[in-house]
Formats: sequence, C-alpha cells, structure tokens
Amino acid sequence: MAATDVDFLGKNVTKLADFSAAEIEKVLDTALDMRRIVADGVKKKPLLTGKSIVTLFFEPSTRTRTSFELAGKYLGADVVNITASSSSIVKGESLRDTLYTVEAMGVDAVVMRHKAEGAADYAAKVAKPVILNAGDGAHAHPSQGLLNLFTIRQHKGRLAGLKVAILGDVLNSRVARSDIVGMTKMGMEVHITGPKTLLPRFFGKTPVIVHDTIEDAIQEADVIEILRIQLERMKGGLFPSTREYARIYGLNSARLKAAKRDVLLLHPGPMNKGWEIAEDVAYSEQSAIREQVANGLAVRMALYALVLGGVA
Ligand code: CP
Repeated sequence: MAATDVDFLGKNVTKLADFSAAEIEKVLDTALDMRRIVADGVKKKPLLTGKSIVTLFFEPSTRTRTSFELAGKYLGADVVNITASSSSIVKGESLRDTLYTVEAMGVDAVVMRHKAEGAADYAAKVAKPVILNAGDGAHAHPSQGLLNLFTIRQHKGRLAGLKVAILGDVLNSRVARSDIVGMTKMGMEVHITGPKTLLPRFFGKTPVIVHDTIEDAIQEADVIEILRIQLERMKGGLFPSTREYARIYGLNSARLKAAKRDVLLLHPGPMNKGWEIAEDVAYSEQSAIREQVANGLAVRMALYALVLGGVA
C-alpha cells in the first residue's frame, strides 16, 4: 500500500504494533510538513479549529506533555491539561469514570500517560475520544518511537538496512519496546545490551540481537540509543551501583571513539548524565538529543492532524 493511501481518521495511537510500515511512513512524511510549519516560525496552522484535546497524566513528564499540548495549540485545537494529583482521581475516581467525564464534555482526543501497562488500550476500549498513548508502564511509548524514527530518517536519509544499538535498562523501558517494534517494521536491525538483570528474557517474534558487551553492540551501529536508567520502576536487587553501571554500560567518549564516526546518538530524556551517558557525549556533535525534542513536537502535530482529520 502506498503511504498516501493510509487512512488514519479516528485511529487510536496506543502502540506501534497496530501500525503498518506504510502508516509509520505516512506519520513521518506528515511530521516533515509540520516541522516546516514550526521552522518557518508560523506556529499556527488552524487545521484542528473546533477540536478539543485533554492531556491526562498520571506520571510526571516534561517533553511528552508539553509537546502534545503545544502541538494541539499550534494546530488551533483547544487543549486542557489534567494532572492526576490535582484532579478528582485523588478522591478515588476511577480511570474509566475520568474518561467518561471528559467524554461527556465532548472531548475529541485524550492523551494519556499511566503507570499500568495496557492502560491506553483499556481507555481506547471504554471511551469514545481518540486515545493517544503518552506512555503506559513499561509497555509502549509510540510517539517517542515515531520521533526516534523521524530523527534517524532525517539524518541518515533512510531507515531500512540501518543498524541500531539500544543500550541499558531495556526491561523497564517503554521507549525500547516501541523502538524495537517500529524499527524492525521499518527494516532496521536491532542490537541490544545492558545488565542481564535489565534485559527481557525473550522478545517474542521480534528479531533482536543481544550482546554481552557495549563494545560489541555499538561496533557496527549507525545509530546508538542510550536508555534512561529507570530506578523508579526497579524492584530491589536488579541494579548494580551507578558507578559500576557507568563503568560497564555507560556511553563515554572512549567508547564513542570506537564506534562509527558518523554514528547518530539518541536518548529519549530525561538523562542521568554520568550514569548511562557521559556529559561530553550528550553534547557531542553526534548527539541528536535536543533535536529529538523538536522532532517530538512535529510528530505529535502529525499524529493529531492524521487522527483528528487535519490531513487530506
Ligand atoms: N521521553 C519522555 O517521555 O520524556 P518525558 O518523561 O519528559 O515526557
């Protein structure tokens, strides 16, 4: 199917497993148009005038929440933010009743981050507004997976045939799960490494190459993605000391020198600098970490426009 034949209207964005390669391509192409709008300094493209969006965050966020909010506003939608800690959720209101409440107000889309895996799929099942998953536990973070693909394509001009090394706390990472699904769909070869206690035992049918050392994993990589150590999701005993982690698994300048010279560095943020990534590596010329943030805005504008009907 050609990318232009894809119809997104009303599609829930809960996981990349629900996206075909053609649909991913369509999001990336639409994001390129959106990036141009923002880069031109226009910041207003009233494609979604009359639409209303609620962001509903049960976990902290800076990048995802702000960019989903700005993306809606740049496209002319009305955007309202609900933080769980200052809502009726603290009085015991359930997720379902919270969704019914915003639905009753005629909301068109809900952007949701929740600590429970499967929360976004549940929301899509029970509620009428389109659901955009902003992260559910360690399960999925589809818009982050898409912005990573967008950033890689911008730098490398293609996705198919590229090798990516994903480093660190894969077990607790919804970003890694969305990457693995999205990148393999787009024909990339995925290599991973990290402490054995922080790697999943199996990856289902997804072909992933597991390495014992960071040196082996990054040797031939076109792209390296360093994952955040997610201490907040770890149960006792799985994690070495941060010093030991940095020594064995951290990306420092010595290791970077052994990688390809034009390797592209990604990190979803926020970074634990000095742990999984050294400060100078984070700001090195190979780093696209701040660009990822800008691309996140474009990708989220694209998702809104596609699912809410702002794109032909
Ligand atoms: N990458 C990411 O999800 O960052 P935030 O937690 O700041 O949204």
